[in-house]
Amino acid sequence: MKNLTIASSGLLLLAMVSCNTTPKLNADNIDEVIAAMTLEEKAHLIVGTGMAGVSGDSAVVGETRSIVPGAAGTTFPIERLGIPAVVLADGPAGLRIDPAREGDSETYYCTHFPIGTLLASTWDTDLVEEVGNAIGNEVLEYGADVLLAPALNIHRNPLCGRNFEYYSEDPLVAGKIAAAYVRGVQSNGVGTSVKHFAVNNQESNRMGNDAQVSKRALRELYLRGFETVVKEAEPWTVMSSYNYINGKYASENGDLLTTVLRDEWGYPYVVMTDWFGGKDAVAQMEAGNDMLQPGTDKQYQAIIDGVNNGTLDEAVLDRNVKRILEMIVKTPRFKGYKYSNKPDLKAHAAVTRQSATEGMVLLKNDNNSLPFNKDVKNVAVLGCTSYDFIAGGTGSGNVNRAYTVSLLDGLKNVNLNIDESLKDKYAKHIAAEEERNAPDPNDPMAKFLPRKRPNELVPDAATLSELAKKNDAGIITIGRTSGEFLDRTLADFNLTPEEKQLIENTTKAFRAEGKPTVVVLNVGGVIETASWRNTPDAILCAWQAGQEGGNSVADVLVGNVNPSGKLPMTFPVAWADHASSANFPTEGAASQFGFDKEASTNKLLWDYTPYEEDIYVGYRYFDSFGKNVSYPFGYGLSYTKFEYSEPKISEKDGIYTMTVDVKNVGDVAGKEVVQLYAKAPNAKAANKPEHELKAFAKTGTLKPGETQTVKLTFAAAYLASYDEDKDAWVVDAGDYTFEVGASSRDIRGNVNANVAGSETKLHDALKPQATLNTLKRQ
Ligand code: BGC
Repeated sequence: MKNLTIASSGLLLLAMVSCNTTPKLNADNIDEVIAAMTLEEKAHLIVGTGMAGVSGDSAVVGETRSIVPGAAGTTFPIERLGIPAVVLADGPAGLRIDPAREGDSETYYCTHFPIGTLLASTWDTDLVEEVGNAIGNEVLEYGADVLLAPALNIHRNPLCGRNFEYYSEDPLVAGKIAAAYVRGVQSNGVGTSVKHFAVNNQESNRMGNDAQVSKRALRELYLRGFETVVKEAEPWTVMSSYNYINGKYASENGDLLTTVLRDEWGYPYVVMTDWFGGKDAVAQMEAGNDMLQPGTDKQYQAIIDGVNNGTLDEAVLDRNVKRILEMIVKTPRFKGYKYSNKPDLKAHAAVTRQSATEGMVLLKNDNNSLPFNKDVKNVAVLGCTSYDFIAGGTGSGNVNRAYTVSLLDGLKNVNLNIDESLKDKYAKHIAAEEERNAPDPNDPMAKFLPRKRPNELVPDAATLSELAKKNDAGIITIGRTSGEFLDRTLADFNLTPEEKQLIENTTKAFRAEGKPTVVVLNVGGVIETASWRNTPDAILCAWQAGQEGGNSVADVLVGNVNPSGKLPMTFPVAWADHASSANFPTEGAASQFGFDKEASTNKLLWDYTPYEEDIYVGYRYFDSFGKNVSYPFGYGLSYTKFEYSEPKISEKDGIYTMTVDVKNVGDVAGKEVVQLYAKAPNAKAANKPEHELKAFAKTGTLKPGETQTVKLTFAAAYLASYDEDKDAWVVDAGDYTFEVGASSRDIRGNVNANVAGSETKLHDALKPQATLNTLKRQ
């Protein structure tokens, strides 16, 4: 009895001691928790919990993966310190988790929202914030904590396989749209991870490619959108990219992750790697890459060894651990949020249907062929993609949605009659093509890569002529899929001879009957349009519009919605017209696995990509070098027309405000995207772009005859160029011309202002290793 009493009081003592020395994490005791952590616990927290099927998995993986199956990763749980595993899951077009779970009859579908490029084409930050809000609600209600999105790498070249996830060739559009998305998602109390920081502009050899970029192009283009989102929206995390930048992995790059991101921009939160990114865990820690996802045993060991052998200062580890814990205490999981697994998918379907219409770009509309008038009741629907509508891209940017509304269903839903005679033909043709293109069952990459598109079916002249007699309009869809791991090829950019023939022959047949032909582009990125755009009556670039795509397109075709999207990138005449095409790999071989490298005709670009076009990307190139384009940056038609008044400009406390009255002078209600471009004094001699976007705004819905005064604001500091010799942002003093335009090539008015010069000193960071032969205007 005595012994027992002693034993139990001993236990009590032990419990009291451990109570004192083992704090449970809360928002106010992070330092104390770190002090109580073992080195092993710190290393575990840094490296995540591994990934199934990949060698080097941590033992804990099975346990944490079961929290939200299909999520991309989790942080490492440390129960004794009250540190839960928090869940990281992909975006950006919605939450990517598994739709079904073993032994569970419930489903876990998420809403597939429009792709990033479509969202950017809305030029509407309020709308993007609303979409982000709906996405964030699914993150919260499905029990995830951080969404691995948005993705805002610059569209350096149309062939980048992941451009569909990204926003624009212009960093202002990319940064503002990303900031709106982050605000929307994070308003739910969950986090985001802005990615891929930085210069991840190609998929080819993405884990080994060294982007050699001038300091100026980095500052003015590739980092600038990230600076905007980091400063304006405070994303909980930043994801470093796979590639090297000027000789150093992004995730091991202290210039990037500490000097620029933290010291210059003031970013205090977590940086995590892209999945398995970088090589040297100790270098990553030192560079300020706090978390290594999804984490391997090798990385864990490297950190332990590093501290033990003195190559990694434990204070550095503690700093990184602290940032992770500061993130964890903000999460719904830490706060014990009881998620429902039942987000309002119906309400979100309405959000995606409507928002998708706002980013569709009307490229051509001869004789007001669109919207279809009341006489258009019967339509012939052509093109394989019409029968196999594409919701989005592949890879981590895919979303496991419950359904995709096909174009046929969308058209039926707006009471159009579909010519049924084609249905069977297309079904058979597509099935045969799928069999022909069936992926090699032994190819481990096959399930990750986009399916090969079917060869196009071209009905003969007699069939087309009959279709034209029976129907009131022809609709042809041209489709392209792309996705992670693979850059697009030139063949993918160009139309096939069959596709061109289909457009040509159908238009001819319908025109003979006095009826219109409309081409719908169901694409994730830019395709060639110059050689065929004169043929059809109308062209609608519908992008990949998410799971309600068919409904959204139909809403635009019949005029339920007046299109107001504009291009966030240029459509060139030919791919080679882009200055960056001289240094872009066109083989389209899968990325990190190094397949086909030997077969590649431009091997050099696998390992090393010199960004010789420098700052001359997209319209900065085309407009400065006087090149023809097929559709310029910022372009898009409406079913109505807008008139602009003469703009006025004023300055107060370093902020410029341009005002311009925009009037709807057409017959139907509509919205207009208004763009402000600045021309620097002596732009050509100073080797600056002809003009650059400095602000944009979208009007509300203007009724016919209605006018809105649009305000466009920007900071004087945003007029700066990067001076490589001074390592400073420099605003040249002098007379600037401020243009207001409906596109980069449709300038409606301008106003001059004398701007004071200024200089903001930065660091000599991210220097290229070799001298680059950069393009210059003079
Ligand atoms: C992609 C990231 C993604 C991550 C997790 C990587 O392959 O590049 O964008 O978030 O996987 O799925």
